[in-house]
Amino acid sequence: MSKDIALITGVTGQDGSFLSEFLLAKGYEVHGVIRRSSVDYRERIAHLEGTPCFHLHYADMTDSMSMVKLVGKVKPTEIYNLAAQSHVQVSFDSPEFTADVDAVGVLRVLEAVRACGLEHTCRIYQASTSELYGKVEEVPQNENTPFHPYSPYAVAKLYGYWIVKEYREAYNMYCCSGILFNHESERRGETFVTRKITLAAARIAQGKQEKLFLGNMSSLRDWGYAKDYVECMWLILQQEKPEDFVIATGVQHSVREFAYQAFKAAGIELKFEGEGLYEKGVCVSVHHPIVGVKPSETLVGKVLIEVSEDFYRPTDVVNLWGDPTKAKTKLGWNPQTTTFDQLVEIMVKYDMQKVAADSVASTVRTNLAEYLEKGVVL
Ligand code: NAP
Ligand code: GDD
Repeated sequence: MSKDIALITGVTGQDGSFLSEFLLAKGYEVHGVIRRSSVDYRERIAHLEGTPCFHLHYADMTDSMSMVKLVGKVKPTEIYNLAAQSHVQVSFDSPEFTADVDAVGVLRVLEAVRACGLEHTCRIYQASTSELYGKVEEVPQNENTPFHPYSPYAVAKLYGYWIVKEYREAYNMYCCSGILFNHESERRGETFVTRKITLAAARIAQGKQEKLFLGNMSSLRDWGYAKDYVECMWLILQQEKPEDFVIATGVQHSVREFAYQAFKAAGIELKFEGEGLYEKGVCVSVHHPIVGVKPSETLVGKVLIEVSEDFYRPTDVVNLWGDPTKAKTKLGWNPQTTTFDQLVEIMVKYDMQKVAADSVASTVRTNLAEYLEKGVVL
């Protein structure tokens, strides 16, 4: 039997790294697309490099020729198109780049598959998003909810969604979209709200940061664990017929609730006072957390969270809540594998350890520099 060969764009990202692990464990040959940058940032996949069935290739979503050459060389049986400029706020500052990668980039992948004559042998997964629902027209959202994109990112992703549907119908290709709601993890980029909060909670608990500034704390999200969600990407491509699926937990929380829970896991009990721009998170007590060291008593009474207008968006999506009924029924997927509390705990535990390790490393570096300055031979 011939081997399953997966090509993953966005392999260095949060989802790409978890998906690579998942597919390697299933016996796939995994090829990942990386792009050139002055600092080779491959932290999330460093542990996979050297694995016999794991291969990396340089290409770029904005460069058609590189995609055609790569698809022709790898001849994948499945493509997972995860590459994107994935930060919604950044898409307001770089709308054209976002459209190039997140919209036209999808077209480049589809055309590369056709150009290489693989349109009837290669299945394609497109990383679509709950941001398509944007200024939501119903709650909760399912596969039939109308779209109302509300950022340059969402508008670009809407093109990706429709071009995949078009190629499915026009050329009978097996290509589908997973409409994934927010999914987080200890590998989440540090400027997304959940990771920004868990890192800040860990730093504040260990005396490395004074305060956390956030934007709209009333925004509501349906947050799941990324490791659970990559399984759905694979399941979507194993169905008999290509179809689109909503992937979500079916449970909604506010940014404020996430912050409360994360600080609690780091040993800090908060209470929120005031409203809008004047809302503050104040420390009411400290305790021994589930993980890490007990924060200092001197934090009690201090304002640890404030609101900053810098993190408000020109248009913000504030009420995302997914209905995963179709994924549960047709894919047999359990949306509650990791609960909200468990997700927060995983992230805070990781960041408590990361902050402690960074602190030790920095002390060692300082001491070493001092020894060397004094001429001590090691
Ligand atoms: P992420 O961590 O930001 O990763 C994005 C990946 O895309 C990175 O590997 C990045 O490479 C790559 N990339 C960006 N521009 C590229 C280009 N021009 N050429 C080649 N690669 C490029 O995102 P994620 O959270 O893993 O999300 C994966 C996908 O799912 C994205 O398409 C995102 O929009 C979508 N999505 C995510 C969520 C979520 O909650 N996480 C929900 C719904 C949909 P570098 O490392 O070099 O930057
Ligand atoms: N990033 C960020 N930083 N967001 C904040 C902050 C802050 O300081 N304060 C409040 N928020 C609010 C945002 O306004 C938004 O309403 C919510 O927190 C979530 O923001 P992000 O974590 O940046 O994620 P997102 O929902 O905009 O986008 C993510 O999820 C989408 C799926 O719904 C990304 O992963 C997208 O790529 C993905 O498509």
